[in-house]
Parts: sequence; C-alpha cells; structure tokens
Amino acid sequence: MIGYQFMGKMHSHAYRDMPFFFKTSVKPVLKAISGRKEEAVRQAAEEFGWESYETDWRKMIEREDIDVIDIVTPNHTHAEIAIAAAEAGKHILSEKPLALNVEEAKQMYDAVQRNNVVHMICHNYRFAPAVQYAKKLIEEGRIGKIYHIRANYLQDFIMDPSFPLIWRLKKEVSGSGTLGDIGAHSIDLARFLVGEIGEVSGMMETFIKERPIADLTGGLSATTDLKEYGEVTVDDAVAFLARFDNGAMGTFEATRFAGGNRNKNKFEINGENGSIRWDMENMNNLDVYFTDSPPGLQGFRTINCTEEEHPYAGAYWPPGHIIGYEHTFINLIHSFITGISNNEATAPDFQDGVINQKVMEAVEQSALNKKWMKIQI
Ligand SMILES: NC(=O)c1ccc[n+]([C@@H]2O[C@H](COP(=O)([O-])OP(=O)(O)OC[C@H]3O[C@@H](n4cnc5c(N)ncnc54)[C@H](O)[C@@H]3O)[C@@H](O)[C@H]2O)c1
Repeated sequence: MIGYQFMGKMHSHAYRDMPFFFKTSVKPVLKAISGRKEEAVRQAAEEFGWESYETDWRKMIEREDIDVIDIVTPNHTHAEIAIAAAEAGKHILSEKPLALNVEEAKQMYDAVQRNNVVHMICHNYRFAPAVQYAKKLIEEGRIGKIYHIRANYLQDFIMDPSFPLIWRLKKEVSGSGTLGDIGAHSIDLARFLVGEIGEVSGMMETFIKERPIADLTGGLSATTDLKEYGEVTVDDAVAFLARFDNGAMGTFEATRFAGGNRNKNKFEINGENGSIRWDMENMNNLDVYFTDSPPGLQGFRTINCTEEEHPYAGAYWPPGHIIGYEHTFINLIHSFITGISNNEATAPDFQDGVINQKVMEAVEQSALNKKWMKIQI
C-alpha cells in the first residue's frame, strides 16, 4: 500500500476484516506500506498491522514478495505508480479519480492491459448492499425504462474561508476539485445504475479564491498557523446536466459548500414502473416506489437492505443489524481479491476510470466554453 492516511487506514482495515467476514480461496497478507516520512510510516505500519514499511514506493514495486499494489496517495501520483506497478506485473487497486486527466488515465489503462494484471478503481459506494440491490431491481426491469437520475454529492468541510489550501484544492495535485473528489462518485454510480452518458452541459464555481497555505494535512482535515495565502485552482462546486445514451436525463450537483451536509451522497432514479432513492448518510436503506402497488398503498416504502437477498449483506449480521461506511470498502476488497484469485476482471476497473475521467473532462470543457460537450467512449 502506498499512502497511509485517510484512505490508507480505510483500505488497511478492509484487507484485515475482509477474510473475517468472507470465505475466499486467497487471503491478503499485509506485507508493506509506503510513505515518505519514516517515523510516520513506521507508526502507520504498526497501527494498521503491516509487516514492514518502505520510504520509497519504487522499492515496494521491486519487491518480489508483493503481488498487489494499492494506491492511496493524492491523484497526481496515481499514474506514475500504477504504470510502474503494472510493468512489474503487480495487480493494482487505485483510488479515484483514476488520474489527473484523460490522457494519463488512458496510459494507466494501456499499461494494465499490456501487462495482463487485475485492476480496479475504488468507487466504494457501488458496494453498499442497498446500491447493489438497486442495481438488481433495475436489471430485473422492476422500474422499467429509466427517465431520470438526480444525483447530489454535498459536503461542507471547506466553507470556512480560513480552512487551508490542502492538496484537494490545487489543480496540479488533484486534477479538479469537487468534480473529481466527490462528483466522480456520482458519475460512477450513474453509469453503474443507468448507463453510459452521451453528452453534458456544466457549470463550475470557485467561491473562495485564496486560502492560507497548509502546513499539515490529512484526509479531510487540515491546520495551519501560516499567514501566507495561495490560490485555489479548482472548483468548489459543480453542477451539470447529462443526456444518457438510453435517453435518460441526469442532473448532477457536487459541492463542498452545502452547509450542514457532511457526506450527503444521494440519488433518485425514476422509471416508467417505479422509482428508487438512496442516501449515503442512511446507507442501509433503499426507498422504492412501484406504480403497480394497490390504490391506497401507493408511495415510497423503505427497505432495510440487511437481508440475505441484499448483495453482501449476508456476510455480516442478522437482518436489521446495520453496517457502515467501512463495509463498502470491505465488499470492494472482497471483489478485488476474488478477481485476483480467479484471474478475472473486477468492476469498476481502469476502463471505468477512463470513462469517468472523460465525463469529468467534458463537464470542465462545457463549463469553460458554455456549451454542450459529447463524450466519445
Ligand atoms: N473512495 C473514497 O471515497 C475516497 C475518500 C477519500 C479519498 N479518496 C482518494 O484517495 C486518495 C488519497 O486521499 P486521502 O484522503 O487518503 O489523502 P490523505 O491526504 O489523507 O493521504 C495521502 C497520503 O499520501 C501520501 N503522499 C502524498 N503525496 C505523496 C507522494 N508524492 N508520494 C508518496 N506518498 C504521498 C501522504 O503522506 C498520505 O499518506 C486520493 O486519490 C483521493 O481522491 C477516496
């Protein structure tokens, strides 16, 4: 594993807990974790349960006792690490967004294909049992032809103008702002549940243009005593319309300025025979509405997706004994490790990463040029 903070802790936990809940023919062995600061990475290795650590990620890739590279570093490092890992024949899990731009993402996809390694991108929200069940209902035709998806991903952690200039706010490190950080998850969910997006029309805004330079960052938190300011070079908020190839309409909004919304990742899908809606902050539940319900019983009802019938839920607790954010990662890691042991593709993979990146780039171009942009897959 390369990187050891927010997602480093999350993925470490998932590798450790996955075999506890799932029976798999292979089990992950936590060989080594890498970071640039020796004392910090040594401590992370100890706390998260890794056998050893390295201070140069290239050494990890050279090690013959390592089969898998997991990339949990900021976005500008994903391409170089993934391409080197693929060339060394390692299977790869990369955090999202796949890269800084479409060009880099394509190079990563080429490298994993050329070297025939298993590859996956960490869009964990697909792996909530309620989302998997939504997918099943859609595939079974329960809501029929889809007319709409309405997807919002709302956070508020950078609203304070004195919140520092973390790596997520610098284009050269993150590629884009809210769009790639959280909008990417909505794009991935929409492609998973509804289908491919043909064209988009977007707008983006940066409300706070300068922020104090950060001296300590990690995850979504940061502190600074510095009085020096730097430019915010990414979007604080994005909204876009999408037309899907199957005729559905999409409206998307991602922002870190929606006060009171901590991690409000939600969607509603309306089809000819019913509707489905989900909200990450209430992630075990799926609201469903079917047009064929008897008169008097029409309306949304809430399914607590903790039964055997709900994908992945059976691996955990009895019905009604709910799971949380970290379980989406455990389920994803299960899918990744199963893919490796069967030498088969896992989804979402780097090709999904490339397509998601194309949608994001089209949204950015559209916002810049104030016109609709087509997406060529
Ligand atoms: N799937 C999700 O829901 C989700 C959530 C948060 C973050 N992410 C993604 O995970 C990745 C990491 O985000 P995070 O929140 O864990 O970040 P973070 O700031 O908490 O941690 C980043 C880690 O990378 C290390 N690092 C930074 N620059 C490096 C470099 N040049 N070389 C080697 N190591 C370096 C840091 O020391 C740190 O250990 C990003 O791509 C982000 O978009 C995904």
